Amino acid sequence: MAQLFPFTDPLAAQEKSPLEIVRGDGCTVIDAQGQTYLDAVAGLWCASLGFTNARLTAAAQQQFETLGYYHSFMGRTPAIANRLSEKLAALLPDPLTHVLYGCSGSDAVETAAKLVRYYQNARGLSDKKRIIAREGAYHGSGNVSAALTAMSYCHDGFDTPASQVLRTGRPHYLRDAEPGETEIAFAKRRARELNALIEREDAGTIGAFIGEPAMGAGGVLLPPEGYWAEIQNVLARHDILLIADEIITGFGRTGRWFGCQSFGIEPDMMTMAKQLSASFFPISAVAMSQKVHDTIARQAHDLGLFGHGFTYGGHPVGAAVALETLAIYEEMDLEQHVGRLSDMLAERLSGLRTHPLVAEIRVKGLLAAVELGPKGTEDGLGTRVTEEAAARGVFFRSIGNVIAISPAYTISGAELDQIATTLAEAVEATYRGQTKQPEKEAAQP
Ligand SMILES: Cc1ncc(COP(=O)(O)O)c(C=O)c1O
Repeated sequence: MAQLFPFTDPLAAQEKSPLEIVRGDGCTVIDAQGQTYLDAVAGLWCASLGFTNARLTAAAQQQFETLGYYHSFMGRTPAIANRLSEKLAALLPDPLTHVLYGCSGSDAVETAAKLVRYYQNARGLSDKKRIIAREGAYHGSGNVSAALTAMSYCHDGFDTPASQVLRTGRPHYLRDAEPGETEIAFAKRRARELNALIEREDAGTIGAFIGEPAMGAGGVLLPPEGYWAEIQNVLARHDILLIADEIITGFGRTGRWFGCQSFGIEPDMMTMAKQLSASFFPISAVAMSQKVHDTIARQAHDLGLFGHGFTYGGHPVGAAVALETLAIYEEMDLEQHVGRLSDMLAERLSGLRTHPLVAEIRVKGLLAAVELGPKGTEDGLGTRVTEEAAARGVFFRSIGNVIAISPAYTISGAELDQIATTLAEAVEATYRGQTKQPEKEAAQP
C-alpha cells in the first residue's frame, strides 16, 4: 500500500488493507466487491446530503467551466467567494459578521488560534495567548489544532505545542457528575473549575477558550442544562475570547442552523467546514465578530497587510458547491426538516433504552449517541458493536463505549429503521457474545 492512512495502525493496514469504497448511492456506499453499506455517520459527520447529489455535481461542473480557480490574495477574489461571504454573513448568528476561508477544519482551527494571537497583540496584550480546551475535545490534527485536541494519540510523538494549551473538564453529565448532582449543579461546577483554572494560571496569559457546542469525537456530549451560559459568564469576566468550533455542529446538525443557536452561545469566532459544502468540496471558514475583525484589520493596516491566507482559500468551486448546499438546505427548510428526522431517530432508538447494555441515549437534531454499559464497562464493547453492525451492512462509529450516529439529512424513514434495527441487533449480539459470522471481513468504520 503506497498510502500512509490517517488514524489507522499502519502495520495493521499492511496486513489487512482498508476497505476500498468505490461508489456512493444516496446515503449508501459501495465497496470494490459490490457490498453496500448504509453510513449512519455520513462519513466523518459531514456528508449531509449523502454521497451523490445531482445539484452539487451540476454546480461544481458549471463553476469548473466558468472559473476553475482563482485566489483571494492582493486585491483580487473570485466573485463567487464574495457571494458566499455575503450569504454566510446573513446566516451567521450574532455577533459574527466576517469570514476568512480555508480548506479543512484543521486549518480553520489553526487560523482561529493565530487570530487570537494577532488580536491580543493588536490590543497590546502580548502575554494573553494561551487557549483553553476541554477534555475530550477534537479540534483537528494540524499543529496547534492537534495540541488543542485532547486525544493523546494526536500528541504522542509529534511534539505538538502543549505549552500553548490549558485543559479543563468535559461536560459529560452521565460519567462525570457526582452522585445526586443535578445537571445545573454539574454545569455550575464545571464553570467554577474553569474559573479556578483561569485564576490559577492568570487571565493575563489566556487569550481564548475553544469548545464544540456539542462535542463530537469526544463521545457526542450534549451540554448539560445551563452549561454554556455559565461558561460564557466566566469567560466574559476574564476578557477571554470564545471560539465555537462548529465543524461538526454547523449547518443544521443539532437542529438549528448553528449549534450556537441550539445552545445559546454568542462566540467571538466560529470555525466551520464539513456540512458547509456537504463535504463535496474541501472548504472551511473562520467567522469573526465585528470587534475582532476591526481590531485585526487595523493591526494589519498598520503592519502593511494581513499576512495570512492559503492558495486554495475561497476556491471558486468550493464556493459554488457551498452556495448550492446552502440553497438546498433553505429549500428543505433545514431546521424543520432536521427536527422531523430527529424525532423519528429518537423514536426509533427508544426501543434500546431498556437494554441491559445501554446506559444512555442522547439525541439532538441529527447528532446522536448510544452510550453502552454502566461505569467501568470493559473497553472494546463499542468496537464489537460497530463490527457487528458493519457485518450487517451499516456503518456506525465507536468512541470508546459510545456508538455515534449522525446521518445525512437526506436519510429516509426506511433507512432510519434500518439504522435502529441493525444497531439493536448488533447490541444484542454483543451482549450475548454471539458473533454473527460476516460473509466477508467486517469493515472498520
Ligand atoms: C470539531 C472538529 N474540529 C475540527 C476538526 C478537523 O477537521 P478536518 O478533519 O477537516 O481537518 C474536526 C474533524 O472531525 C472536528 O470534528
